[in-house]
Amino acid sequence: MTQTDTATLATPADGLPKAKDFTALLRPGLPLGQTPLKSLYKYLVQPDIMSLSAGLPPAATFAFSALQVTARNPTTPMGQDPLGGDRSKDAPDAVHFDIPFTPESGKVVVPGSSTCLLSSLQYCPTEGLQSFHKCVQQHVAKMHSPPYQDWEVTGSVGNTDALDKALGLLTEKGDTLLLEEWTYPAAVDNAHSRGLSLEIIPMDKDGMDPDTLDATLTQWPTERARPKVVYLVPTGQNPTGITMPLERRLALYQLAQKHNLIILEDDPYYFMQYPAYHSPEARTAASVDPLAPKGVNNLIPSFLRLDVDGRVIRMDSFSKVLGPGLRLGWITANAQFCHYLRLHGETTTQSPAGLSQALVTELLTHEWEDAGWIGHVQRIQEHYTEKRDHFLDMVEKHLKGLVDYVAPEAGMFVWLRVLLPQAVLETEGIMDKLFQDLVKAKVLLVPGYFFLGQVDRTLKKDAPYFRTSFAAAHPSLYEPCLAKFGEVLRQYIDA
Ligand SMILES: Cc1ncc(COP(=O)(O)O)c(C=O)c1O
Repeated sequence: MTQTDTATLATPADGLPKAKDFTALLRPGLPLGQTPLKSLYKYLVQPDIMSLSAGLPPAATFAFSALQVTARNPTTPMGQDPLGGDRSKDAPDAVHFDIPFTPESGKVVVPGSSTCLLSSLQYCPTEGLQSFHKCVQQHVAKMHSPPYQDWEVTGSVGNTDALDKALGLLTEKGDTLLLEEWTYPAAVDNAHSRGLSLEIIPMDKDGMDPDTLDATLTQWPTERARPKVVYLVPTGQNPTGITMPLERRLALYQLAQKHNLIILEDDPYYFMQYPAYHSPEARTAASVDPLAPKGVNNLIPSFLRLDVDGRVIRMDSFSKVLGPGLRLGWITANAQFCHYLRLHGETTTQSPAGLSQALVTELLTHEWEDAGWIGHVQRIQEHYTEKRDHFLDMVEKHLKGLVDYVAPEAGMFVWLRVLLPQAVLETEGIMDKLFQDLVKAKVLLVPGYFFLGQVDRTLKKDAPYFRTSFAAAHPSLYEPCLAKFGEVLRQYIDA
């Protein structure tokens, strides 16, 4: 993630087509232009302008005058014992750097340009500080090479914010959002609060089922407005843990083309991709390198990478790889969409937090650089792979025959389907009772129906699923927790 001038950015754009015109899919009533005050920004950044215009707090009033940062060394393993080591301690060779108040004494700071405190504590352009913007732009070019010319990036306050902005761009009350049957609850609730109706499409082990999507849209009743947007979490899906294989991504992209859909690609787990799960025996066999991290070059292509039309709005977040409290991410989309997303940002979040941008940009461009970023991604991948493997070993040991699941190759989640006898599963309220019995046994799992892509989640209250996560829990909890789960399930069989 090194920083370069826009001019020296990889220019995959050359010779590529421009995005198609999606004007017809925009929500009616979008702002026509910048808010009046923001429209002066282009003059304000001229170094020789004599401005009495800006209502900006002067730098002398800022509370902070310098920032000393300690970051982890991305090449240092995350702990002595990967399954339980204390990762809170700094490695002795941690990376130290300062974010000074001004970049260099005497140098004029153009507002919004650099990551110094003078700039990053000030209001900044909606798309982000120039340095942050360049950093993520270059990252997108390298990681996703969007196959059309006029893509852009704009900063977000993480993917929850990005989704809110994207739905505001395209949908209005009464529209329909297409989504996976089991999905991220914040997306469901946001869409509902906008008055959207939700059309869930069933999933199989590879994600959203393309045949049902096609049939649903082909048979769409003429009296209802046609859906324009499909929301997908393609990698390490929350809650199912599924990572859509390339063929599925291609099939869904082709359907989006056929039915003129915009794809909202919510992909916070993209860098958390792991090798396939192997049993402990296979892992000790010489032929399997159980940890072999995928790094950044062996990741599954994103929808953005397939996006010849400019119909994907991709949402990236630093939450899962650097820290959710940063509240920092970005959106990649065609220039027209980015223009309106920025206008929306002007009247909502204004911009991502300057300090977060400064921390991340300095870290990625000047401290870690490309090698450090790759090292960090790899150690995250190793960390989660080891946890995932241990978690699934314990599932196999204690829940064999009691649950089934798709072993996740990305993300944080294992979606367990309980295999109780049919008569037991058909008892009304069975999953709620099971949940309560688990809580009594001091085991907390998330009931599957919480993730139904419908506002009335009780419609599937007895869906036989629990979402579990190997991410936050200490690995020493996996075995007692899953063993207890097994005991409780057995009681239902023996009853
Ligand atoms: C699918 C999905 N989207 C978005 C988020 C939130 O991301 P952010 O912290 O960037 O808002 C999460 C997890 O919390 C998630 O699972």
